[in-house]
Amino acid sequence: MNTKLIRTPIAYGPEGQPTGAGAEHSRSVAPTVGDSARAGLGPIKISAKNIKVFYGEKQALHGVSLDIPDKAVTALIGPSGCGKSTFLRTLNRMNDTVPGARVEGRIEMDGEDINDKKVDPVLLRAQVGMVFQKPNPFPKSIFENVAYGPKIHGLASSKSELEDIVQSALKRAGLWDEVADRLHAPGTGLSGGQQQRLVIARAIAVEPEVILMDEPCSALDPIATAKIEELIDELRERYCIVIVTHSMAQAARVSQRTAFFHMGNIVETGDTEDIFTNPRERRTLDYITGRFG
Ligand SMILES: Nc1ncnc2c1ncn2[C@@H]1O[C@H](COP(=O)(O)OP(=O)(O)O)[C@@H](O)[C@H]1O
Ligand SMILES: [Mg+2]
Repeated sequence: MNTKLIRTPIAYGPEGQPTGAGAEHSRSVAPTVGDSARAGLGPIKISAKNIKVFYGEKQALHGVSLDIPDKAVTALIGPSGCGKSTFLRTLNRMNDTVPGARVEGRIEMDGEDINDKKVDPVLLRAQVGMVFQKPNPFPKSIFENVAYGPKIHGLASSKSELEDIVQSALKRAGLWDEVADRLHAPGTGLSGGQQQRLVIARAIAVEPEVILMDEPCSALDPIATAKIEELIDELRERYCIVIVTHSMAQAARVSQRTAFFHMGNIVETGDTEDIFTNPRERRTLDYITGRFG
């Protein structure tokens, strides 16, 4: 079992270092995505198997399976209402919080079932962070937005350690230079693009392994969009990223793998370049050439 996802009482060694089950995370050797090992992607981080999602009587996903590599960006594309957001939410159990939603199938992260009773969804959502279409900073200062997660998860043992975590997260999110002199100003006072980088910093601050993004640039202007895309490209060296986008150009620019969704199914998955230049399925071709959507 992935011990990071289970709350264990923290034990401390003689020098105050955390020990015991919660202190280490053994990673099993995972396979790589079959046809793209050449692209230098990481091993499979998340494997979704036969996922069905129901909202009451209505079925939104009809048995979707997808292997998602680490250290890469996977784009989910497809027409509105085809189930992209629904699928994304299964990856950190956000559907648990949607009234009437029911999920079937299995999702493994590092080979472990994320829906196992022993998994704490709060810890899971720290490890699998999420960024939404509309930037949603807390009504607090820039500093507090980023410090909040590390505080509640007990990641800092002193004020200066917390300050280091905040600074490092803001740097990795490409925002530090713009906010270093006003860390105690409200996060909601930033521009839309800065707010989106702030919530990315907030996600990064709790040391996630996966970052889910649901149309993160839809509310942004082209310049802010370009900054977020650059950031996504940098973040992929370190994280497993899954992005929903309605922009085919964006999918082509930022992702290495693409899954095309249609009416609650995945029609086709492959290396982004292949999907956009040489799709196997007629429906994929029709969608990427703008014949429906
Ligand atoms: N909370 C909900 N309750 C009921 N139906 C929903 C809910 N969320 C999404 N749906 C339905 O599930 C289907 C897939 O929606 P969604 O995952 O949001 O698609 P996409 O993100 O691809 O636009 C749609 O028919 C949508 O109306
Ligand atoms: Mg959506």
